[in-house]
Amino acid sequence: MSSGTAEGGTAVGGTVNGGTAVTVRVPAKVNIQLAVGGARPDGFHDLANVFLAVSLYDEVTVRPATALTVTCEGPDADQVPLDRTNLAARAALLLAERHGIEPDVHIHIAKDIPVAGGMAGGSADGAGALLACDALWGLRSSRAELLDICAELGSDVPFSLVGGAALGTGRGERLTPLEVGGTFHWVFAVADGGLSTPAVYGEFDRLNEGVAVPPPEASEPLLAALRAGDPVALAASLSNDLQAAAVSLRPSLREALAAGLAAGALGALVSGSGPTTAFLTKDADAATQVASALLASGTCRTARTATSPAAGATVL
Ligand code: C5P
Repeated sequence: MSSGTAEGGTAVGGTVNGGTAVTVRVPAKVNIQLAVGGARPDGFHDLANVFLAVSLYDEVTVRPATALTVTCEGPDADQVPLDRTNLAARAALLLAERHGIEPDVHIHIAKDIPVAGGMAGGSADGAGALLACDALWGLRSSRAELLDICAELGSDVPFSLVGGAALGTGRGERLTPLEVGGTFHWVFAVADGGLSTPAVYGEFDRLNEGVAVPPPEASEPLLAALRAGDPVALAASLSNDLQAAAVSLRPSLREALAAGLAAGALGALVSGSGPTTAFLTKDADAATQVASALLASGTCRTARTATSPAAGATVL
C-alpha cells in the first residue's frame, strides 16, 4: 500500500476505528467513439465522446479524520499522488468548500483501474470521493449539484458518477444517456507506464497542424450497434481520434493492437488517451482467449477481461 498516513486496509461501510466509513465503488470507462474537434481558445477540445462504463472498479472509502489525508492500495499504488492534486482529495475539498465545512476526512483508494491508462481511473476516484463524502457528511446533494462539481473536477468525472453509456459533448462533461441492448465483452491490455492526457491532446494538435479539423459528431451506426447489443457491428464502428497521437508517442501500441486482432478480437482501439488498448470480443470465452494471447505476445504488462455496461458510482 502506498500511504500518506499510518492507517491501512480497506474499510467497508459501517463503524471503523470508532467513526463511520462510507465506501463507493466506481467503474472504469472505455471510449467507443472519441471524435475530437480543433483546439478551443480555453485549450480544451470539443468532443463527441461515447463513453461506456466497464466492470473494472476502484473502491473509495472515506472516514472522519483530523485532516484531509489520502492512502492508496493496489498494484500501481506507488504511481498515485497522495497530495491535493489527487482528484479524490480535490473532490472532498470542493464539496466541503461549497458547504462551508472542514474537509477533514481520510480517503482510502483500493485501486484496480490502470493508472494514467486512458480508462478514467483518476476521474473514478474523484466521483467516488465526492459521493462518499456527500453521504458521510449527510449533505444529500442533488444529482445536478454533484454533476456540477464533477464537471469542475475534470471532463471525464461526470461520466464516472453516472456510468452505463453516455454521449459526452462540450469537453466531454455534458452527458446524454445512451441505450445499450446487451452485454459487451472486452479485453484491456495494460501497457507499462502511463501517458499524460494533455501530452496526447498536444500531439493531436501537432499532427493536425494546418488541418481544418471537422466538428465532432457521434456516429449513427455506432449508436445503433450499441442499442442493438451487436458486438460485430460495434467493432466495425469503433473509433478514436486520439489514437494516432497516442501511437505516435508510444509506437509499441501498434504491436499490441495487432496482437489482439490476430488473436481473434472483433475490433481494437486505444482507450481514450491511452496507453491501455481495448479489444472487443464476441463473448466471454473469446475474451479469455484474446487475453491469454495478448499476455503471451509480450506486447502488454497485463491483460484484463471486463464487461459493459457497468453501473456508475455506487455506495456499498
Ligand atoms: O478535463 P481534464 O482535467 O481531464 O483534462 C485534462 C487535459 O486534457 C486538459 O488540460 C486538456 O489538455 C486535455 N483535454 C482537452 N479537451 C478535452 C478534455 C481534455 O484538450 N475535451
